[in-house]
Amino acid sequence: MIESLKQLKQQAVTELSAVTDLAVLDEFVLKYFGRKQGKLTNILRSLKNLDERQRKILGEDANAVKIEIWKLIDNRRLAIKKSGKKDFIDLTVDGEKPSMGHLHPVTQIRREFEQFFREQGFAVMEGPEIESDYYNFEALNIPKDHPARDMFDTFYVKGRDNLVLRTHTSPMQARIMEQKKPPFAVIIPGKTYRHEATDARHEHTFYQVEGLVVDTNITLANLKQVMNDLIRHLFGHEAKTQLRPSYFPFTEPSVELLMSCIFCGQKGCSICGQSGWLEMGGAGMVHPKVFEFAGYPKDKYSGFAFGMGIMRFAMLKYNIPDIRLFHQNDARFLSQF
Ligand code: FA5
Repeated sequence: MIESLKQLKQQAVTELSAVTDLAVLDEFVLKYFGRKQGKLTNILRSLKNLDERQRKILGEDANAVKIEIWKLIDNRRLAIKKSGKKDFIDLTVDGEKPSMGHLHPVTQIRREFEQFFREQGFAVMEGPEIESDYYNFEALNIPKDHPARDMFDTFYVKGRDNLVLRTHTSPMQARIMEQKKPPFAVIIPGKTYRHEATDARHEHTFYQVEGLVVDTNITLANLKQVMNDLIRHLFGHEAKTQLRPSYFPFTEPSVELLMSCIFCGQKGCSICGQSGWLEMGGAGMVHPKVFEFAGYPKDKYSGFAFGMGIMRFAMLKYNIPDIRLFHQNDARFLSQF
C-alpha cells in the first residue's frame, strides 16, 4: 500500500503540472478526492481493513499525501487565475497611480484674483470675447477717428466691420453701467486679443482683470488702497504700489499702476529695468463722458476702473521668463505648477 501511495502521489504531481484550465482542475479534484470513486478517497477508505498498528503508520502517510496534493491544487488554481482570467483581480499586486492633471497656472492666478476681490466685496462677472466696435471703443470715449485706437492693435471679424475680438476687458465697464445703478464693485476677468508682434512679454491672446467701482464718493485714494491690499495679498507685506500719470480716453485722470520690484527689493535689476518698479496695468477715475454714454445723471457719481494683465502677474509669481510658454501646451512646462 505504501507503494501505491507513492505512485499515486507521483501521478497526481505529473497530471497537475499539465492542468491549465479551471474546469480540468475541477475534474482532477473529483478524480482524486471524489466521495465515491476518488483515487485517494479509496485508499483512505481501505485503511479501515488494516490492523491498528499498520492503520496508524499508513494513515499518517496517506494524510500527508492528501495535504500535499491539496496544497498543489490551490497553487495551481491561483496560477491559472493569474495567467489569463480577465475578471480576476489580484489584490496583492501593487496599484498604478494615475497621473492627475491640475489647473493651468493662468487659471490658478485668475482664481487667486477672484478670491481676493470677492473677499473685498466685489462681484465677479464675465463678458463676450467677440465685441462690438461700440462697446470696445465708442462707449469708452474712443470715436472712429480717435488716435487712441492706435493703442490697441485690433483683430476685426472678417466681413463684419462692427465686430472685433475685444482688445481689453474695459468694454464690460460700458455694458455693466448700462444695466446697473450704483453703488457697485465688480471685477471682470477674461481673455483679450491684440494683433501684436509677440515677444517675451507680449502675446496676441492674453488675460486681463478689469475692475470697476462706482458710488457717490469714490476717489483715487480708494483705488490706491485696493491695489495695495491686492499686492500685499499676492506678494507679501513688503510690496508697495505707485500710481504714475498716464493716458486712457475713458479715465480722467489716468494712471499707470506700478508695484515695487519683488526681485531686487527696489535696488534695481534686469527684471525691473533697474527702475525698482514693475508695471501692473492701467487705471483711473471713470471719465464723465463714459458716465454720459451709460445714461447716468451728470455729476452724481464717481468711480475708479483698472485693467491688469494677469499673465504678467503669473510670470512674476512663478518666475516665468517668457509669456509665450503659457499657450504652448508643453506638459513639461505646465507640470511644474
Ligand atoms: C488697457 O488695456 C486698459 N483697458 C486698462 C484700463 C482699464 C485703463 C480701466 C483704465 C481703466 P493696457 O493696454 O495698458 O490698458 O493693458 C493693460 C495691461 O494688460 C498691461 O499693463 C499688461 O499687463 C497687459 N497687456 C497688454 N498688452 C498685452 C500683451 N500683448 N500681452 C500680455 N499682456 C498684455
